[in-house]
Amino acid sequence: QSLESKQVQEIALDYDHLPERYIRKQDEEYGSVANAGPSSLVSEEIPVIDISLLTSSLSELDKLKSAVSSCGCFQAINHGIEVSFLDKVHEISKQIFRLPVEEKKKYLRAENDLEGYGNDMVLSDNQTLDWTDRLYLTVLPKHQQKLQFWPQNPTHFREVLDEYSSKIESINKLVLKALARSLNLEENCFLNQYGTTSTMNARFNYYPPCQWPEKVLGVKPHADGSAITVLLQDKEVEGLQILKDDKWVGVPIVRDALTINIGDQLEIMSNEVFKSPVHRVLVNSKNERTTLAMFCMPQTEKDIGVVDGLVTDETPRLYKNVTFTTDFFFENYQKGRRAIDACKI
Ligand code: SIN
Ligand code: FE2
Repeated sequence: QSLESKQVQEIALDYDHLPERYIRKQDEEYGSVANAGPSSLVSEEIPVIDISLLTSSLSELDKLKSAVSSCGCFQAINHGIEVSFLDKVHEISKQIFRLPVEEKKKYLRAENDLEGYGNDMVLSDNQTLDWTDRLYLTVLPKHQQKLQFWPQNPTHFREVLDEYSSKIESINKLVLKALARSLNLEENCFLNQYGTTSTMNARFNYYPPCQWPEKVLGVKPHADGSAITVLLQDKEVEGLQILKDDKWVGVPIVRDALTINIGDQLEIMSNEVFKSPVHRVLVNSKNERTTLAMFCMPQTEKDIGVVDGLVTDETPRLYKNVTFTTDFFFENYQKGRRAIDACKI
């Protein structure tokens, strides 16, 4: 078996050099982002929002609005998910990558498909691969779940993930309503665009330590194609950075918080008032890192567009109505372009 077709976890167990495909190229660009300035780790740059206050406190609502209008990202605390339950989610996330190789391979995704277990999807010949393995699953709507990719071990995996999805769906609704109210819009104006049923995808991310951490990226720069993404970070190991004012800013671990970022679909619906931040993941030489991203978005194939209330003489409509499919997103991603740019009027 060639190094290139192995999962990163297997490579990291035994290697004396980095496979060429994982070595990042200095001149790689994404959208309009070339080589951003030096990284900073100023934690105050990512606001912490008490989301239990969003219906009662106008100042918290305002804080949320300014967070998502600037860096597009915030740390949600008091989100209502019990710490003991979050621990279970952390635990299943770690356990699935600790399964024996043979067992994990039962959930291997098809070469050109997103769903299932595997290393970075190869979209083009010259693409640098991310130093990560993933398990990608559709969790909502339930009838679209492909259970053949859901690990049987640990035995409560399915139950925990289903329960977590429904809790995240409540947070998705709460946040989208609050965001609408923060702009003095009818609170369901974003959710109405979701159609009859939301879509949610779960992506478990595993970043093995790397002997040459500065030569690879855990995830190369990208913006999410979701409406919002809810990320459960590793409890101890940092790595996520977002691009803010042309600088990479570290997203610190805030205990028991959920890291929420805006995705392209909400940037479109909000006529660019809310920002879908470009972000990337660094790895390190000592510690593995495991995270779980939940991508919340409208019903599949549902077309979306700028909310009417946000179009004025001073703020003309910036985006066409589009059907923001996964294929459309990856078509652009593969070319190093932001899908959102292809939706501009
Ligand atoms: C991602 O944005 O794709 C992953 C984020 C993370 O693992 O920190
Ligand atoms: Fe992302």
